[in-house]
Amino acid sequence: MCGIFACFIHGSDTLSEREVAGVLLNGLGRLEYRGYDSAGLCLSRSSTCVCSSEQPAVQDQFCPRLLKTVGTVSVLRELVDREMSPGSVNGANGRRAKCTDDSRRGSCAVGQRCGTTHVGIAHTRWATHGAVSVENCHPHVSSAELEFVVVHNGIITNYQALKEMLLKKGTRFESDTDTEVVVKLIHYLYSTLLEAPSESSRKTASASIPFEKLVMHLMRHLEGAFALIFLSTKYPGQIVACKRGSPLVIGLKGEYNVSERTKGGHFSKTDSAARITSSKLSKGATASLSLGRTRNLDSEGRGHDELNDSTQYFFASDVNAIVEHTDRVLYTEDNDIVSVRSGELQVFNVTSEFSYENEDEQMVVPNRQVSTIQMELHEIMKGSFPHFMKKEIFEQPESIKQTMRGRILNGSEVHLTGVREHMSDIRKSTRLIFVASGTSYNACMASRQILEELSEIPVIVELAGDFMDRLCPIFRSDVVAFVSQSGETADTLDALKYARKHGAMCMGIVNVVGSSISRLTDFGVHLNAGSEIGVASTKVYTSQIVVMVMIALELSADSKNKSARRIAILQGLRELSANIEKTILLVDEHVQRIADQLADDRSILCFGRGYHYATCVEAALKIKEVAYIHTEGINAGELKHGPIALVDENLPIVVFSSMDLTAVKVQSAIHQLLARGVRQRLIVVCSESDTQMLELVASREGVDVIKVAHTVDCLQSVLSIIPMQLLSYYLAVARKLNVDCPRNLAKSVTVH
Ligand code: AGP
Ligand code: GLU
Repeated sequence: MCGIFACFIHGSDTLSEREVAGVLLNGLGRLEYRGYDSAGLCLSRSSTCVCSSEQPAVQDQFCPRLLKTVGTVSVLRELVDREMSPGSVNGANGRRAKCTDDSRRGSCAVGQRCGTTHVGIAHTRWATHGAVSVENCHPHVSSAELEFVVVHNGIITNYQALKEMLLKKGTRFESDTDTEVVVKLIHYLYSTLLEAPSESSRKTASASIPFEKLVMHLMRHLEGAFALIFLSTKYPGQIVACKRGSPLVIGLKGEYNVSERTKGGHFSKTDSAARITSSKLSKGATASLSLGRTRNLDSEGRGHDELNDSTQYFFASDVNAIVEHTDRVLYTEDNDIVSVRSGELQVFNVTSEFSYENEDEQMVVPNRQVSTIQMELHEIMKGSFPHFMKKEIFEQPESIKQTMRGRILNGSEVHLTGVREHMSDIRKSTRLIFVASGTSYNACMASRQILEELSEIPVIVELAGDFMDRLCPIFRSDVVAFVSQSGETADTLDALKYARKHGAMCMGIVNVVGSSISRLTDFGVHLNAGSEIGVASTKVYTSQIVVMVMIALELSADSKNKSARRIAILQGLRELSANIEKTILLVDEHVQRIADQLADDRSILCFGRGYHYATCVEAALKIKEVAYIHTEGINAGELKHGPIALVDENLPIVVFSSMDLTAVKVQSAIHQLLARGVRQRLIVVCSESDTQMLELVASREGVDVIKVAHTVDCLQSVLSIIPMQLLSYYLAVARKLNVDCPRNLAKSVTVH
């Protein structure tokens, strides 16, 4: 769940260590919402001649520098400022490998210009193994000399067995993390491959074993989920990353030359001669990749490669850390290894078979698309808002518009391109299963009723983790939808892989373009809500409901007897943005006052039913996660089956009213609460047109009524959740909590 970031910057001889650390810190800052208990970085630079295509001739290697600390990225920034200010010496937290610190720039035998290369890796942690401490912070190192250094996102599930094996070999450990095993193991493999006993493995283990091949050996031993990025003093000026199960995206900056490999796509020592260096990498091109160098002819007509001066690569857990550098990105797939060697970026994919006899055949060069990110930097900035959460709540009139843009034609027809192509298969399906976690699950709950009503297909909503615990039976006749903001949630991703294995058609409803779920599903809809940075999901929740309502409309497009209903919903969609804006204006100040009254409470109950069952559960989740107040969302129909025992005149209670078939039942729940003395602490959320409810509470002194704008029943929950998003926000502010980075949480839950 953490954020990992790395940079390769070539050609800027004037760039200082502090400036490169600044690039790493900015990258980490953009990823901080993924985890924020501790942070660290490691960087080094080297003067490298790239005339030889195989191994860069390193002229000088500057010593790698490692800094890490408990706390947020800003604490790391302070440490960097202290440690890297002119004249500072390494403090307690800083480590520098013992190597020659020589600033001479070299030149190679044939007189080509050699450049300075900066490489750095960085990490912001959400601890899974080992407490939050400096020892457990990343990067982790293989030795005091920083021979191998790694940052990791994920969990190595077999780390215990690997650790025991390494302990027996005499390896010493400094941390309690699973990650440290990775870096000790790669060092161990490096040493053993160099001393390999058999003829075939000795061949592999020449001193020039490429870094990426070493990582391939490592990957054979690792189980679990990981995105790993390595630096090594054994491979100066190089970065190698690999992934399985955790996300990793690469940003490409500068003018690139595309090369193709002609030897069947296999990694080979001799294929550099086959590079085609004249074509430029265009946006959207597919590249069998080899980027970053230009072949020049010397006066005698001999070809020499030179690293392009502006070559820069960025590795990150998501594009937020990349967008300020470049809009060209490459999404990696499971079992990919990405290496920057001699300034070239190469992607390999490790095949499942392994033997020492034909190692080269096991690193296939895959086709990977270079995509253009459609994201502006301001999307991931707070602007004039004090917190991302507030900004994202207030952005909803616009994010909803973006979600619908181009998808409602002539104001009367829904057009979801991805879904439409599969409409006949969806209509033939026997079940529509929606799988999600957290807020995304609540959005599915909020949409289930309208999906059932308009599609007339049984709709099942599953919590992703529970779905996998039960290994829920899945059939080829099922359509399974995976709903996720991040598109990386481990439980949801597992469920997707499971459903694919069982032959179901898989649909993605995802916000993050290029995420694992959006790539692994057969078709789907992007939410287009824009980046959501606050750990508490707000604008994506409302966009998810809107997309699912649009899917329900698509599914019923041909149904004549649903036409009046469809027209009413389409009208509701057209007015939704304006109604959100109106609701924010209606409730904002009122909710702030309520938050001040509730700030010291220890428990809140929320009741709703029908469409508003999801609203009360989502309201409770928001208050729990950002305000740390125990809040329960309970179906109002269940009140008398137990929860009413909790009720007394001191417990704050929120009730969501509906103007549909459930209205009378909700009114009766309110009567039951009033009969038990709940008055001063009762808050009712209802539409401003809900005259029945307004009359009921009008005569009850002390009952607080939050009025929201009115819309069609299946969209009312989009409006009713807004005061609760604001309430959780203002409660957190009143309690002086870290709104955007709540305790113990992270935005993207990529571990189990
Ligand atoms: C939302 O406020 C939460 N932080 C969390 O429940 C989240 O919705 C859940 O982890 C699912 O994430 P996803 O939508 O990215 O899959
Ligand atoms: N398992 C690693 C740790 O505990 C990485 C955690 C993560 O990906 O958040 O440090």
